[in-house]
Amino acid sequence: MPSESPRSRPKPVIHPARGGRTGDVRRIGLSLGADLCWPKVFEDILSDLDLALDLDGRTTRFEVERMTIEPFGLRQPTRYDVVVDRLTHWYSTSREWIKKAVILDGVYVFNNPWAVQSMEKQTTYCAMMRLGLPIPDTWLIPPKEYDETADLQTTLQSYARLFDLGQVGQKVGYPLFMKPYDGGGWVGVSKIDDEQGLRDAYDESGKFVMHLQKGVVPFEQFVRGIGLGPQVLTVRYEPGAPLHDRYQQDRHFLAADDLQVVRDITLTINAFFGWDFNSCEMLLADRTWHPIDFANPCPDSQVTSLHIHFPDLVKAKLRWALFCAATRRPFRHNLDWAPFFAIADQDLSFRDKLSQYAELARQHFDADAFETFCAEHLHALDKTTHAYFGTDRAKAAVRAKVEALFPEHEHDEFTELFWSRIQDWRRQEGKSA
Ligand SMILES: Nc1ncnc2c1ncn2[C@@H]1O[C@H](COP(=O)(O)OP(=O)(O)OP(=O)(O)O)[C@@H](O)[C@H]1O
Ligand SMILES: [Mg+2]
Repeated sequence: MPSESPRSRPKPVIHPARGGRTGDVRRIGLSLGADLCWPKVFEDILSDLDLALDLDGRTTRFEVERMTIEPFGLRQPTRYDVVVDRLTHWYSTSREWIKKAVILDGVYVFNNPWAVQSMEKQTTYCAMMRLGLPIPDTWLIPPKEYDETADLQTTLQSYARLFDLGQVGQKVGYPLFMKPYDGGGWVGVSKIDDEQGLRDAYDESGKFVMHLQKGVVPFEQFVRGIGLGPQVLTVRYEPGAPLHDRYQQDRHFLAADDLQVVRDITLTINAFFGWDFNSCEMLLADRTWHPIDFANPCPDSQVTSLHIHFPDLVKAKLRWALFCAATRRPFRHNLDWAPFFAIADQDLSFRDKLSQYAELARQHFDADAFETFCAEHLHALDKTTHAYFGTDRAKAAVRAKVEALFPEHEHDEFTELFWSRIQDWRRQEGKSA
């Protein structure tokens, strides 16, 4: 969330128009799949805000549009300044449109489609180990089964070494987690307590290439740091709870020092991989925060998971999208890891390194200019959002998502549950306003 910075804040730079789009309307495209609730809320709040910003002497308005899927010419121009993308990780037609729009039309997208495509868990673990983050010990093992391909038998017979799974398990230590090196959505994840359990799980792992990762067990806290540009929302997480209760309801629950570490880790990871919107899972044990899963560049944004945190998430998404559209934020095509590695190679404590990584991340996300922009132009957002979440339109958006996910006899009950948590948010915000 934007906070007051003691430094003098730089003015956001407004970049000139690109690719023939009009100067006074900025269009935000939503590239959507099954998302129902946040897009509706995003559109409604933007409409209620009715922004007309004076940017460089011109009155600038903002429009939001849901993007359609259709054939496109690679030289066809685009209507969008900013795209909020929720499809790249699985829907290649939209991803390839976005790549064209970034390269040829200068569109800003979150998230960077190349970084989404190529940075799986394995890369992210290695990179953050290189920065000195306390990732639990992790091994990668070859798969149990393969698709038959032309060179497979020759390759395996020549080079695949028989290995003793029990020995690898011993090196990692129990309990451990077996999970796909590129996984998501808890697919193929299992907790393993002993060697027999490991052998059984491997026998059933099929064609997955698996990590074995030391369990952070027991842990004192489980937190998701959800980053949107330079903003970080922290949510306590309970993996054993039913889906609608996994994101816990307490807000402001971390001590200042822990909050700083969680924020700095989240910003570091997101800037390093060029992800504007990403969720980082961290477990606290023995006074150390261990990141365990942070390649999540299409984070859950549904009211049915986020409930009390949902309004804060939509606000953060709006702020960042508007900042990017208003300033015509240039898209950074290349990731630059060298400055992070230069800090990693210094003779500093981990906390000092982390602060320096986070400072790089704040620069990457233009945090100071963003905060100035929010203070100057988005002062109405808090009030507008607060009022909106008291309306029937907001409740209808919640209900639409509930109806899509829950059986019919639970529609009323769960709509009321999530709605009541949003009303708790309104009461809490009302008090702090
Ligand atoms: N090293 C670990 N220590 C403790 N718990 C772990 C560890 N690794 C995974 N887990 C547990 O397993 C769950 C799923 O693992 P992980 O988040 O790595 O998989 P995923 O498939 O990427 O899940 P997601 O849906 O969050 O993307 C975690 O939320 C956590 O509860
Ligand atoms: Mg996870």
